[in-house]
Amino acid sequence: MSDVTEKVAAVYDPIIEEEKPSDNKSIAPADDEYMIRCENLVKIYKTDEIEVVALQGLDLDVKRGELMAIVGNSGSGKSTLLNMLGGLDKPSAGSLTVDGKNLLKFNDKDYMEYKRDTVGFVWQNNARNLVPYLSAVQNVELPMLLKGKKQRRKRALELLEKVGLSHRVNSRLDQMSGGEQQRVAIAIALANDPKLLLADEPTGSVDTKTSNMILDIFKALNESEGLTIVIVTHDVKLSKRIDRVVAIRDGRTSSEIVRKKSYAQELGEMGSIIGGAGEDEEDTHEELVVLDRSGRLQLPKDYMESLGIKGGDKVKVELDEETGKMFLFKSGE
Ligand SMILES: Nc1ncnc2c1ncn2[C@@H]1O[C@H](COP(=O)(O)OP(=O)(O)O)[C@@H](O)[C@H]1O
Ligand SMILES: [Mg+2]
Repeated sequence: MSDVTEKVAAVYDPIIEEEKPSDNKSIAPADDEYMIRCENLVKIYKTDEIEVVALQGLDLDVKRGELMAIVGNSGSGKSTLLNMLGGLDKPSAGSLTVDGKNLLKFNDKDYMEYKRDTVGFVWQNNARNLVPYLSAVQNVELPMLLKGKKQRRKRALELLEKVGLSHRVNSRLDQMSGGEQQRVAIAIALANDPKLLLADEPTGSVDTKTSNMILDIFKALNESEGLTIVIVTHDVKLSKRIDRVVAIRDGRTSSEIVRKKSYAQELGEMGSIIGGAGEDEEDTHEELVVLDRSGRLQLPKDYMESLGIKGGDKVKVELDEETGKMFLFKSGE
């Protein structure tokens, strides 16, 4: 750029920004293929003198219209990641784009609008977004009221039907079972038509039957409305019914389990086999190790144990170009 154009740009830039205040936050068009793009995401919690690195350079991409799960041990950073995605907390470094918006550039107002318009959140402990002395339908209307939405009653009733609670619309929340309350919480999360639904251990405190029902609701919303859904779970049975499961270890994506056939495809084929196996079969999923953007990978813990190696050790890597396979040896072997 010449000196003159630089000066002209400097004069015009603020004006352009004033007219389109959100433009500097949109780094991708809204019709971009991805709903979530997380690159090298870092979150450090500072408490008094201790620093906890909850996310240590996490990469994750989720396409629009995808329903996927995140699994990992307690303390691996699942909730931290979900809170970043939900705009409840700010990343320390890295890049995070949701629906084409760069969350690292958000100010308080951007966060407020984002939480109100773009994402819906469901927690394990739903007490957080339910009002016990109001009826189910009143609870669902509440977020719409805050946004000034029209036809609230009609929309709230539709949502309660979607979560299978048409018969309970006028029941007070404190008269409903845990599973029913969780379904009201899902309807509340959907009240303002989010593009992305985030659920942190949504089936953590319900029985298997209810847990399956909740996943069925998520699947129906995903299929009929193309809603992008990210579910954090440690429920193995639940994750077996999901096509893409990403595992987090120590604040990084470590491996990814992909269904060889989609669950829907498998159910279709099972339909013709009476009493066919299916869900309990071992090889429905294939586990893949995820390389980060620089090509680094995290070896599965059990592989390291069986090789007798530990973090910090040096290993030998060989490539067999003919077969396209790579081999890893304990050094000296
Ligand atoms: N608000 C916080 N302040 C300090 N440390 C936190 C906070 N939230 C989470 N952590 C720490 O960050 C790490 C990841 O926690 P979390 O994301 O809750 O894991 P998960 O949901 O996988 O169990 C843990 O070591 C946890 O103790
Ligand atoms: Mg958690």
